[in-house]
Amino acid sequence: MSLRAIEWDEHKETLKLLDQRVLPHQSNWIECLNEEDVAAAIAAMVVRGAPAIGLTAAYGILLAAIQAVKNHEALWPRLKRAEKMLIAARPTAVHLQFTLEEMLKGAEQLEDSDKTISYLLSKVRKIEQEDSLSNRNIGAHGANWLQKRRGKQPLVLLTHCNTGALATADFGTALGIIRTLQERGSISNVFVDETRPYLQGARLTAYELEAENIPYTLITDSMAAAAMRLKKVDAVIVGADRIASNGDTANKIGTYSLAVLAKAHQIPFCVAAPLATFDWSLPSGEKIPIEERPAEEMVIWNKTPIAPQNARVWNPAFDVTPFEWISAIFTEEGVIESIADLERLHQRNTPSIT
Ligand code: MRU
Repeated sequence: MSLRAIEWDEHKETLKLLDQRVLPHQSNWIECLNEEDVAAAIAAMVVRGAPAIGLTAAYGILLAAIQAVKNHEALWPRLKRAEKMLIAARPTAVHLQFTLEEMLKGAEQLEDSDKTISYLLSKVRKIEQEDSLSNRNIGAHGANWLQKRRGKQPLVLLTHCNTGALATADFGTALGIIRTLQERGSISNVFVDETRPYLQGARLTAYELEAENIPYTLITDSMAAAAMRLKKVDAVIVGADRIASNGDTANKIGTYSLAVLAKAHQIPFCVAAPLATFDWSLPSGEKIPIEERPAEEMVIWNKTPIAPQNARVWNPAFDVTPFEWISAIFTEEGVIESIADLERLHQRNTPSIT
C-alpha cells in the first residue's frame, strides 16, 4: 500500500492531513475540525495535488454537516457556505468543484440530520475509492501505451511536480504509471524535476520514489533540456489540474516548457489524469483560471531572502499546454491521442481504448 496523506478519524470525527509543507524531513499531521480549517489547509498547501484537494474538500463538507448538527444550525445554508469557501481555496484544479458538486447532489432533500451525515460520509468514501481505482486503471493504460511505443526495454522517464499517493487518494496518476512500470520491471530511471518554486519534485516525488525503491535522479527544472539531449529520455509524463474540451491542459508551472522541449527532442509528452479533470464547460485552455501564489514562495528560501527586498514577482502556480503539444492523455477509461478521441469522450464519456 502506498503512502496516505488524508485520514478520517471516525472516532473523533475529524480530518487528519499529513503536512506536505514540511516533508520529507518532518512528518507532522494537522487536524481539521471544520470547513474553515480544511479551506485554510488547502490554501496553505498542507495538502495539494488536484485529486487530493478535491477529496479533502469533500471531507470539509462532511465536517461542515457534523458541526452544523452539533451546533443546532440549519444544515443546508451551512453546506452551501462551506462549498463556496472551499472552492475559493484554490482556483485551478476543477476536481475541487467537481467533488463538491458530487457531495451536495441529493443532500438537500434529506431532512433527517443523521441521515445527511451518513449520506455525506458514504459519498466521500466513494470519491476516495473511485479515485484510487481510477489511478490503477490510468497506470495500466499509460504503462501499456509506453511499453507498446518504446518496446520491452526498461524506460527512462522524466516527470514534473508530484502526482503520486500524496497528490491523490492513493497510488497516483503519472506516478501511478511509473509505479505500474516498476511492478513490470520496466523502469530504468526517472528524472525528477525539482519543480521551482515550491519543490514538489524534490521534496515529494523523490520521497515517494525512494520509499518504493524506484530509481530516480533529481534535476533542477533548467536541466530538463540537457537531460533530454544527453540522457536518452524515452517519455515525459505529468499530471493535470484541469483539461479544457479541446485538450488544452493546465498543470504545474514548467509543464508547458517540458512539452515544447519534448517536441524539439522528438520525445512523447504524456499527461495522466482521471476523467474528473476534464472541464467540458471550457472551450479551450485560455479560459482556465490560473492561480497566482504569494511572492514569498519565490523570493524566500528556507526562511532566507534570496532576491532584493523590492523585487517585483510573477508567481503563477500553473501553465497551460496546448493539446497540439501532447502526444497522449491517459485516463481511467483509455488513451486520448486526437481531437476525435476527445470528441468521443465528450459525447459519450467513453474514450477510444488503444
Ligand atoms: O500546486 P500543486 O502542488 O497542487 O500542483 C499539483 C500539480 O500540478 C499536479 O501535477 C496535478 O495536481 C496533478 S496531481 C495527480
